Amino acid sequence: MPGVDPSSRNGRAASMAGIGNLMENTVMKKILAMILLILFLAAACILPAFAQEAPAGKTLIVYYSRSGTTKAACEVLGKALNVDLREIKDRNNREGGLGIIGAMLKINLGVQTDTDPEKVDFGPYKNIVVSAPVWASQPGLAMKTFIENNRFDGKNVVIFITSDSFIEEKYQEKHRQLVKDSGGTVAGYFQVQATDPVNGEKVPRSKDKIMQETLKLVPGLQKALAGR
Ligand SMILES: Cc1cc2nc3c(=O)[nH]c(=O)nc-3n(C[C@H](O)[C@H](O)[C@H](O)COP(=O)(O)O)c2cc1C
Repeated sequence: MPGVDPSSRNGRAASMAGIGNLMENTVMKKILAMILLILFLAAACILPAFAQEAPAGKTLIVYYSRSGTTKAACEVLGKALNVDLREIKDRNNREGGLGIIGAMLKINLGVQTDTDPEKVDFGPYKNIVVSAPVWASQPGLAMKTFIENNRFDGKNVVIFITSDSFIEEKYQEKHRQLVKDSGGTVAGYFQVQATDPVNGEKVPRSKDKIMQETLKLVPGLQKALAGR
């Protein structure tokens, strides 16, 4: 076009393109910032929900069971919490009347039994659930012996017992003390009854009912294991 300096037209076009690029960059930056903000907010909402479900650190359930109630309860608990399980056995036969009388004598005299295993390496675990039937108002002899022979220093310990009757606070405290004497910090105490009172009698609950009752404890147990 006459009278128009082509070089200055090129210069304007270049500067217009520069402004366009700058605006595009600014818009892109804003979009990126929005995306990052949305991701941050989503993470802030989602992560605490996961944290509520995941116990802080690895958990091991150690249990003793003579007639299968505590074993069934611990197995359903182990699955619900997705944690490791370890059965502690009594090396002495506790099946018949003599075995039980022997155990009652020992537990009341404060004498130990022999357990298999005697000790467990708690190294990989932050939380230990100790589980047993109640015998003579104490944790069953094999578990009592096991707690006495192992150290729980630095571990959060949750006590989970099964019994025919509700275990009152004064006995719970003795169970807690047993764990404390072996160095553990007691983070919770949970119990499930193996019987229902019917007309003044204790009627055994079905294994299904015991497992249902155990599953009701899961949210409380998760809180205790997470240290809340
Ligand atoms: C030797 C012995 C002593 C028991 N003492 C008590 C007791 O003092 N209080 C109680 O509520 N239940 C007592 N029980 C009942 C058991 O704690 C209960 O049935 C438990 O759920 C059985 O668990 P297991 O099948 O895992 O062995 C006793 C059972 C046995 C065999």
